[in-house]
Amino acid sequence: MIFEVLTLFPEIFTSFLSQSLLAKAIAKGILTVNTINIRDFTHDRHQTADDRPYGGGPGMVLKPEPLAEALDDILRISPRPLIINLTPSGQLLNQNLVKTLSEHKRLALICGRYEGVDQRIIDLYVDKEISIGDYVVNGGEVPAMILIEALARTIEGFLGSGDSIIEESHNHGLLEHPVYTRPRVFRKLAVPSILFSGNHQQIAAFRLAEAMAKTRDVRPELLSDPDVVERAVSVIGRAGAPLSDKTK
Ligand SMILES: C[S@@+](CC[C@H](N)C(=O)[O-])C[C@H]1O[C@@H](n2cnc3c(N)ncnc32)[C@H](O)[C@@H]1O
Repeated sequence: MIFEVLTLFPEIFTSFLSQSLLAKAIAKGILTVNTINIRDFTHDRHQTADDRPYGGGPGMVLKPEPLAEALDDILRISPRPLIINLTPSGQLLNQNLVKTLSEHKRLALICGRYEGVDQRIIDLYVDKEISIGDYVVNGGEVPAMILIEALARTIEGFLGSGDSIIEESHNHGLLEHPVYTRPRVFRKLAVPSILFSGNHQQIAAFRLAEAMAKTRDVRPELLSDPDVVERAVSVIGRAGAPLSDKTK
C-alpha cells in the first residue's frame, strides 16, 4: 500500500514512520509513505502556500496552485491514487470505511491547515473527504497518521498474528472484551478464573458476554445492527482461544 501525503509539515511524520510496526512494514516493502511538501510547488520567494479567504472572515486558506501542481505530479505515476481530503466536514472514519479504503493500493492524503483547502481543489481532484471525528484539530497531519495506521493494520503481514485484527473492537461490530496478562492478582484484583479453565467454549462465551456488556454500557447504538451478535459469536467463538501457557 502506498501513501502520498501532501503537507506543509513533512517532518511531523519522521518519528511516526520510524518506529515499531510501521517502520518494519516500510522496511519489508509492504508499506510506502511518501511525504510531499506543498511548499515545494510554490514559485515565489516566500514560498507562499496560503492566502486570505475571499468574502472575508478569519484565518487563511491553502492556495489552489501549489496543491494542484503537487497532485498533478502524483497523478503522473500509476496506479492512480484515491485522493482524500482530511477535513472535519468529511465522512466519519470507522472500521467499515477503513475496510473499503483498504481495497486501494495507492492513496493520496491532503493535510489541510488553517481554515482548510480552496474548494476548487476538492471539486477538481478529491475523491473522498474524511473526518477522524466530530472535533477539530490544527491540521490534517494527525488525521492522516490515524488513517495510515488504521489502513496499515489491514495489510497482510503487517501484524505479527493474522488473527489479531479479526477479534478487535469494531471489526465484528462489538467492542472488545477486557484482556489480562500476568500477574494473576494485581493490587488485590484477580484475573477472572474462567480464563484459567482451559475450556475454550466457556472462555469464548465469557468473552462474548463481556464484549456485549461493554458495548451496551459504552456504545449501545452499535447493538442496533441486527447481525452484530451473530457476527461476534462466530468471530469470538472461533477465537475462543487456546490461552497461552504464560497467562497461567
Ligand atoms: C483548523 S482545521 C480547519 C477546520 C475548518 N475551518 C472547518 O471548520 O471545517 C485545519 C485542518 O485540520 C484538519 N482537521 C481538523 N480536524 C479534523 C478532523 N476531525 N478530521 C480530519 N481532518 C481534520 C483538516 O485538514 C483541516 O483542513
